Amino acid sequence: MKVQALRWTGDALELLDQRLLPEQVVYLTCRTAAEVAAAIRDMAVRGAPAIGCAAAFGIALEPEETSYAVLAKSRPTAVNLFWALERMRRATDKKAEAQAILAEDIEVNRAIGAQGAKLVPRGARILTYCNTGALATAGHGTALGVVRSARDKDVSVIACETRPYLQGARLTAWECLQEGIPCTLITDNMAGHLMSRNEIDLVIVGADRIAANGDTANKIGTYTLAVLARRHRLPFYVAAPLSTFDADMPDGSKIPIEERPADEVTGYRGQRWAPEGICVRNPAFDVTPAELITAIICEKAVVVAPSRERLLPLLTTH
Ligand code: MRU
Repeated sequence: MKVQALRWTGDALELLDQRLLPEQVVYLTCRTAAEVAAAIRDMAVRGAPAIGCAAAFGIALEPEETSYAVLAKSRPTAVNLFWALERMRRATDKKAEAQAILAEDIEVNRAIGAQGAKLVPRGARILTYCNTGALATAGHGTALGVVRSARDKDVSVIACETRPYLQGARLTAWECLQEGIPCTLITDNMAGHLMSRNEIDLVIVGADRIAANGDTANKIGTYTLAVLARRHRLPFYVAAPLSTFDADMPDGSKIPIEERPADEVTGYRGQRWAPEGICVRNPAFDVTPAELITAIICEKAVVVAPSRERLLPLLTTH
């Protein structure tokens, strides 16, 4: 694997520090649960599946009762974090379980890729959002994993920069360059224009939490893309593992949405462009209603026109 977000040494978790990309490729070493929690909170590791894997290693490093609470407080929206903590709580051999979660995530992503690739036409120009690749997972990726799995169809990526944290411009652009995946970077507000000029064939995004009815929380701006895709009659796919489904959440209205610091909106990396004293909102995620989603691609199935009824069989067998 050219891009590896997490590495386990046996007594430490090494995280590719995503705050420094694309300028620097530096691994951060975590030896305690608190260090892993801080790395998740401060975005050294991000992306729902990668957060879940990191949290699992946090418990493997320090299997204390207090570690669960510390890790659970790191970020609120991606349900993979809570899924991984629950699985770790039930495990007897914590180190083996964390490694199993990591290995399974790669397998699951390859399965998502194989399911999704069938939906991708030859030569498709695929709009994607945020970073959903190897950097956001144990490897391969979810939405970007579908692109990886469809590479022999001569597909290309249009990556939205993903304001305010720039996961598209910094991370997806870097990951695609590392692997030679054809990729064009645009700012988020260019998506509608390109769709109106027939320069996009489909949209694939990832997810942080999928409610039982298919409503999907993902990076802020995803909802806007779904509305645009509907307007232009373009397929809008969500690719995510079953660990991102929250069967206890009936719909998207109660999904906790992380509110992040104002300085991500007023500037970037220490450079400020907004005036001092301005009020700011910075929700990190939004919820796309199921009715705007063409299909949800997971490791077991492609659920077309997702709804409570259609997702139920998957959630009960998971
Ligand atoms: O704030 P981030 O960078 O953790 O948000 C990531 C996303 O929204 C991704 O789309 C999602 O976690 C899926 S990653 C496979």
